[in-house]
Amino acid sequence: MKLQLNKIYQGDCIELLKEMPDNSVDLIFADPPYNLRLKGELYRPNQTKVNGVNDNWDKFESVEEYDKFTLLWTKECRRVLKDTGGFWVIGTYHNIFRVGKILQDIGFWILNDIIWIKNNPIPNFKGTRFTNAHETLIWAAKSAKSKYTFHYKSMKTSNDDLQMRSDWLMPICGGKERIKINGQKAHSTQKPEELLLRIIVSTSKPNDTVLDPFCGSGTTPAVAKLLGRKYIAFDKKEAYIKIAEQRLKKVKPLDAPLLEYKIERKKPKVAFGNLIEKGFIKIGENLFSADKKHKAQVMANASIIYKEEAGSIHKTSAKILQKKSYNGWTYWHVKREDELVSIDKFRYDYEKKYLRLKI
Ligand SMILES: C[S@@+](CC[C@H](N)C(=O)[O-])C[C@H]1O[C@@H](n2cnc3c(N)ncnc32)[C@H](O)[C@@H]1O
Repeated sequence: MKLQLNKIYQGDCIELLKEMPDNSVDLIFADPPYNLRLKGELYRPNQTKVNGVNDNWDKFESVEEYDKFTLLWTKECRRVLKDTGGFWVIGTYHNIFRVGKILQDIGFWILNDIIWIKNNPIPNFKGTRFTNAHETLIWAAKSAKSKYTFHYKSMKTSNDDLQMRSDWLMPICGGKERIKINGQKAHSTQKPEELLLRIIVSTSKPNDTVLDPFCGSGTTPAVAKLLGRKYIAFDKKEAYIKIAEQRLKKVKPLDAPLLEYKIERKKPKVAFGNLIEKGFIKIGENLFSADKKHKAQVMANASIIYKEEAGSIHKTSAKILQKKSYNGWTYWHVKREDELVSIDKFRYDYEKKYLRLKI
């Protein structure tokens, strides 16, 4: 069977993964069975039954069986993941440590463990343990050498210009987002879309292929589609596939310009001398500090003269500011039509004119 992108397939994910080519997927999000091993039914103090995870898909004969299953699907995931890809798995204390050990055994390189703190967790009704208020996500690269995707600046910007931390506070899926059939949850473990949004935005690019081997109600493909990624997803239960497909029909991808990562753009690799060679800045013209208090002159060899001393744009600005080092690109300006213009601007003009591939 040839699997196609932007489809959800019904079946055992290990068998379906075997149909996929090596190195074909950019991002994997897996929310596998937890192997909860709950004993008996759980009731609230008011005698109403707690709708926990007691599904057949979560049952294994033994812990050894669970480990064997984990080894098989994680190995297949690693095979289909590109060298540059990212792998995410979510779990609870019941399974995440076993999964993490297996990931390391087969060569995955753990980049972070993220604690998803639920601000509305299910209480510990029996009062016998702490409230279990979090789940753990492991984010791993295919190997220690992998050049994986991480949109660091985007994450920092979304966190009010502070580095995004590994503890994420988000509510469990509820309200209108929670899919219900006849008033009952359609899936016992539907994940919140905001969790997938952060994962997909931070560790993949538009048009990338996102795989979810255990897609349940289709949270991963739904968010992947919204964010202009391709998806492929599996679940062994036909009923869940139908729910996910209905859900996907309602998702309209965001317009491509809204998905751009302009903030991640690296500074163009253009030297000050390049700007002189191409005439963006003239030999002999003056450079000014923003307050015009300091003035230097551009020499033919791309050094600048300030108070009779020659140096680079960086060293000279550092000296003026009495700092060990400074970024001369942001310090110096030239006059254009009587206005001061940062020399940094010309790097982008240069890049646009000379460094963009013309296809
Ligand atoms: C924890 S749930 C995933 C929930 C999903 N993240 C969501 O937001 O709805 C795990 C899913 O894996 C499916 N599943 C369990 N074993 C599987 C297998 N061997 N192959 C494919 N799907 C499987 C179950 O039917 C269940 O829907």
